Amino acid sequence: MSEPMSEAVVAPGAVHVRAPGKLNLVLRVGPSAEDGYHPLATVFQAVSLYEDVIATPAEEISVSVSGRHAQQVPTDERNLAFRAAALLAEATGTDEGVHLQIAKQVPTAGGMGGGSADAAAALLACDLLWETGLAREELGHLAAELGADVPFALTGQTALGRGRGDELTPALARGRFYWVLALFADGLSTPEVFATWDRQQAESPSTTAALDVGDDVMQALVSGDPHRLAEVLVNDLGPAARELRPAVGTVLDQAESVGALAAVVSGSGPTVAALAADHASALEVAAELRAKDVADEVIVVTSPAHGARLVEPVRES
Ligand code: C5P
Repeated sequence: MSEPMSEAVVAPGAVHVRAPGKLNLVLRVGPSAEDGYHPLATVFQAVSLYEDVIATPAEEISVSVSGRHAQQVPTDERNLAFRAAALLAEATGTDEGVHLQIAKQVPTAGGMGGGSADAAAALLACDLLWETGLAREELGHLAAELGADVPFALTGQTALGRGRGDELTPALARGRFYWVLALFADGLSTPEVFATWDRQQAESPSTTAALDVGDDVMQALVSGDPHRLAEVLVNDLGPAARELRPAVGTVLDQAESVGALAAVVSGSGPTVAALAADHASALEVAAELRAKDVADEVIVVTSPAHGARLVEPVRES
């Protein structure tokens, strides 16, 4: 399994925060509202693939990025972590700056909330560095201003999401689930995926009644049984992601034949998450998918995982 950044690299006076990527175990989509956004009913679960953000005191706000797909990530005001620091400074009236060093594991534009995890980690790191002392709830309000997936990256674990996905209710989940992730270096554009869903709906409307996450999903999570969870995985954006990126369909079609219990697209894709029965099975499924060369990278992760939190520096003894 991929290892997050070492705890030992942080300079004195710096703050190191780690926040998780997410999967959508269920993602139901409704027709877009007047603001152009589609209402969602989703189940988020955080996974053991993390973004590390190290915040160091500085005059201005700046960002540097390393790790997976780093070359695709802007370091200016378009960066969500940059915006998080600027928003916190504005909200608290501080005139401090910060350098944010981001080490990425979560794929960029992959449907796993990597940018949102950066923003959540940056909010918490700057709050600690600047000693602005905001309550988690206040950080949550700022998080929601930054993007729909940012509040969940703060809280982690398992949660139901409504509205744009930012109205969170914690959900109970037992056990640990093993996932094989098929990653693509080339991401998908979220607006394009939703626009494709609109077109597909216009051509052949689906007859989903209420926009809801069923009780069977909550029961499967509580059972901790991956076989039960496999029965309920669903993503309404799957067909759109498949249309825009045929390789997504290839992975979805092959996952079960190589031993996965089920596979689902995460968020607006293109990441595909295949659920395995246990760790040994996950390693086998990953090896089979790698041999088939269906994605740019195939990795194994577990869920659920914690939300944004401080990584304590390792003390010299
Ligand atoms: O949340 P984010 O800024 O990534 O969304 C980008 C775009 O994706 C939105 O402007 C909208 O076009 C589309 N979107 C949507 N419904 C959502 C989330 C995103 O239509 N629930």
